[in-house]
Amino acid sequence: MKQWECGVCGYIHKGEEPPDTCPVCGADKSAFTLINGEDDLQEEEIFQETEETDKKVSGLKAKVDQAILDHHLHPISVHIPNGVIPAAVFFLICGSVFGNESLITAAYYNISLVFIFMPVVLYTGYVEWINRYKKAMTGIFKAKIASAGTVAFLSCLLALWKSFSPDASGGFYIILHILMLAAAGIAGHIGGKFVFKN
Ligand SMILES: [Fe+2]
Repeated sequence: MKQWECGVCGYIHKGEEPPDTCPVCGADKSAFTLINGEDDLQEEEIFQETEETDKKVSGLKAKVDQAILDHHLHPISVHIPNGVIPAAVFFLICGSVFGNESLITAAYYNISLVFIFMPVVLYTGYVEWINRYKKAMTGIFKAKIASAGTVAFLSCLLALWKSFSPDASGGFYIILHILMLAAAGIAGHIGGKFVFKN
């Protein structure tokens, strides 16, 4: 059976024809190239190795970026927001329902941690997008960028809000937390599609 590789995300499709759109990244049919056999694969591997070697010798930033790619630091770092935000929302809702100030404060500390860590998440994601996905701008990448931007913006807004106004709580404050949770969920779901390819 023929194998087709998506030039954007690397998804492999098996069949006589490439799919109309990539099920992982949404790239057009034209992004797919036929992988004929072992020879082609070997050639591609050698090409990728040469490309990686070139990158390795071009300065500190390139070394940092290469380490980010080699050690999968984006999927690792996203565990901070994706793990901490649900806990924060849980603390905030429980604190609000039961009138427990300590829980509301715990949510604030958690959101502050997310805010502090978001630059790492955004930068590692940017490096992956540039290097692994060649700045592709299909719908799924737009959704990922928008949802990550929403998490960064809301964590900043909510951390600052509570810092300047310690009494902050209530309906709108909670709704913004839930929106941030939803955005983190969307970003995580899309990221999962890229990592696991189906
Ligand atoms: Fe793809």
